[in-house]
Amino acid sequence: MIVVGIETTCDETSIAVLKFHEKKRELSGLPYAEELSLVVLTQDFHSIYGGVVPELASRSHLESISRVFRLALEKAGVELKDIDLVAVANEPGLPGSLIVGVSFAKGLAQSLSKKIIAVNHVEAHIISPLIEHDIPFPFASLVVSGGHTSLYLVESIGKYKLVLKTRDDSVGEVFDKVAKFFRFGYPGGPVIDSLSGGAEQLFSFPNVDSEDFSFSGIKTFSVRVPEHWFGPFPLPEFFASFQKKLIDEILFKSFDALKKFGNGSLNIKHFALTGGVAKNSYLRQVVKNLELENKIEFIFPSQRYCTDNGTMIAFLGGLRHIIFGETSPLDFDIRPTGYLKAKGGIDE
Ligand code: KG4
Ligand code: ZN
Repeated sequence: MIVVGIETTCDETSIAVLKFHEKKRELSGLPYAEELSLVVLTQDFHSIYGGVVPELASRSHLESISRVFRLALEKAGVELKDIDLVAVANEPGLPGSLIVGVSFAKGLAQSLSKKIIAVNHVEAHIISPLIEHDIPFPFASLVVSGGHTSLYLVESIGKYKLVLKTRDDSVGEVFDKVAKFFRFGYPGGPVIDSLSGGAEQLFSFPNVDSEDFSFSGIKTFSVRVPEHWFGPFPLPEFFASFQKKLIDEILFKSFDALKKFGNGSLNIKHFALTGGVAKNSYLRQVVKNLELENKIEFIFPSQRYCTDNGTMIAFLGGLRHIIFGETSPLDFDIRPTGYLKAKGGIDE
């Protein structure tokens, strides 16, 4: 089965072609999926505004989506007639951006008389580690991006339990807002990450008094520190400490919450991390110690699957179609603030 996946929820115009095979994987029991092509057009121009400008994002999707689609087909060596299913992210996301992707997907499906399936973008992130890794259920999946910071227990495809979420900002948002304050441009995470490389973590941050993830206090503290500083500000040391604080906060809270979920013991053997912040170097380094201490395996998708991409949309759409026989009627709508609950099986 050949599935086209369309992703335009924010500032990436991405289309992928995925081929599902009959053969099943050993641990998860899911069918093998082969990526025939993935095209991602990142709208870099938002950096000069210090964040994504919704109107410009939707206009840019509109200008480039046809070319991105043609390129994805060409790279895959697939013709229009070969497509079996069109999968598109219709929730959550920026309204104008979602409309472009969904309209394109509907036009494609209708003109070719193909089946269409609308999927949830966050659900696609949650299961994206399964694209490349065969992970036995249940496993923990932590989505850490510019829009989300949530930890889920994945019991099967379509069955997720929300373990922990943020009560204020997402972790990526804090990287971006603090970077904006220091005039580093957007997105801030990669700049802070490379600036911190090898620097000593000299600054200490106040404790966060919350069982949920909470990052707004760290953000406020971070922008106040330079105000009270005399002399040249040690940027690398400050950001090494800032990054450590955010990542420790994510990891230790996740472990505590998972232990509570397992009535005091960590029943989970696999912990997957995804979303843009999962690319962070300190995070990737620190999990090595946690792996040994807790006898748990951390799983990271490749960098291209950590950020928004059409492959995860095609993957989720294809799996939902194969497992549940699911398709969507052509009159489905966009849901900018859509929750996973709407798809059933989610405990939020
Ligand atoms: O998943 P993503 O590409 O887009 C969505 O938000 O959906 O995530 C983008 C976020 C931004 O906040 C960006 O600053 C952050 O991921 N990010 C990083 C790194 N690379 C990207 N944060 C920390 N360290 C990084 N290396
Ligand atoms: Zn995303």
